[in-house]
Amino acid sequence: MKKAIIATITLALALGASAADNVKATVHADQPGAKINREIYGQFSEHLGSCIYGGLWVGEDSEIPNINGYRKDVFEALKALKIPVMRWPGGCFADDYHWMDGIGPKDQRPSLRNNNWGGTIEDNSFGTHEFLNLCEMLGCEPYISGNVGSGTVKEMAQWVEYMTSNGDTPMARLRRQNGRDKAWHVKYFGIGNEAWGCGGNMTPEYYSDEFRKFNTYLRDQSGNRLFRIASGASDYDYNWTRVLMDRIGHRMQGISLHYYTCSGWGGSKGSATKFNDDQYYWALGKCLEIEEVIKKHKAIMDEKDPYNRIGLMVDEWGTWWDEEPGTIPGHLYQQNALRDAFVAALSLNIFHKYTARVKMANIAQVVNVLQSMILTDQKGTGHMVLTPTYHVFEMYTPFQEATFLPIDLESEIMQVSKAYFKEKEGARDAGYRPCPLLSASAAKTTDGSLVLAVTNVSLDKDQTIDFSIEGYQPKTVSGRILTSKRVDDFNDFSHPDVVAPKDYSDAKLKNGVVSVKVPAKSIVVLSIK
Ligand code: AHR
Repeated sequence: MKKAIIATITLALALGASAADNVKATVHADQPGAKINREIYGQFSEHLGSCIYGGLWVGEDSEIPNINGYRKDVFEALKALKIPVMRWPGGCFADDYHWMDGIGPKDQRPSLRNNNWGGTIEDNSFGTHEFLNLCEMLGCEPYISGNVGSGTVKEMAQWVEYMTSNGDTPMARLRRQNGRDKAWHVKYFGIGNEAWGCGGNMTPEYYSDEFRKFNTYLRDQSGNRLFRIASGASDYDYNWTRVLMDRIGHRMQGISLHYYTCSGWGGSKGSATKFNDDQYYWALGKCLEIEEVIKKHKAIMDEKDPYNRIGLMVDEWGTWWDEEPGTIPGHLYQQNALRDAFVAALSLNIFHKYTARVKMANIAQVVNVLQSMILTDQKGTGHMVLTPTYHVFEMYTPFQEATFLPIDLESEIMQVSKAYFKEKEGARDAGYRPCPLLSASAAKTTDGSLVLAVTNVSLDKDQTIDFSIEGYQPKTVSGRILTSKRVDDFNDFSHPDVVAPKDYSDAKLKNGVVSVKVPAKSIVVLSIK
């Protein structure tokens, strides 16, 4: 990583903190907030590149060890994440997908051209049964994205019947013929994806009518109740949310939001592993801006739905860099550095804070695509590696279903230039974003202990934070740390453990205060009992 061109960054000094002093913080265990929806730890699996084929699925006849076709090493690693929900089959792919092509004997399934992602030919060997069975094996809720863009109402209604009816209905009979007697439990159902773009290029008004029409025919079957999710806004498109809230209202239980840490949609997005200090801080500033974006969508939703009955489902988020050199164009295969781990931790901290409205989030994507948990070797060697982002998700598992606790923490705040590349500077990229160097999130877990995650994104400054805890008597503290020498360090097939969690013993308990030394470039997750 190159040294920073500091001119693009100005440092605004702390509200009270100085380099020499310990930073003081308070965890308010006496002011518990909402339960952190475990669905915030959701995943996204699209037919894109090698997410499904070669990632989750290799087929029963593969030489790569598998469980009924599911890649064994990937499955076991995912199981450890306690995944609450998995979205499938897209993404943009969803509005090109015709589910009936993916059922029945595998050798009779027609192949398809993946029009959105590189024109790759797929054999449809991974379809409805393969996805829903995987969810059962992982113990997670399936989240199906239905095809509004190029599908019909009948096709979508029949899909719901196929998956969820236990009656003597045509689609349930077809499912039984295909080897599955009992209906699956399917809770989350998305009615379209990115309807403003790859999902049909619709206006919000037109899409709202489409939603209402499709939704009418998605009948709850055999006691299964669908949680209906509308295709929501991208980033800063507040008008989309407003129109859907007005026109769809409580016919939907959720509205999605897509927000990527990405430098823009044209041209290079920058390398996942080769970046300078400015670009490092830029990514964190852009990632943190999701808080403002959530607040603004939430404010619109609050007007129409003050009791949070409709969830804001951040069903696509994460970093989006250039594809790795030498990989197939359109497959979005990117590496994942310690920088990505910070994006994960900071984003999760924000989702915790807004959990009363943010009822789900699905990082894009689970294997081999964008900010993935896992990378498998594209050369077919059978190797797999866990990314720094995986480790954050694993370290953060105690937050699932825990009760959010507010924290007062004063941190130095960097003002980070919005410009990623000089040539991209323009109206949209003008100005600065704030990037606090320290962030933290705390919660009371389901076993009654506290979990405290602390992130120090500074490239060079260690910090010690003294956490007073109101309303809780700490007796022991233990934890793990995720860090590395450089923020562009990553794991690959020859060096799988460059960025991996280690035991951490630099948190001390004194007079009820938990004093935590957080080295530069690190994430510390503590269990306080
Ligand atoms: O996650 C990759 C793509 O990003 C999805 O298919 C689409 O919904 C979004 O634009």
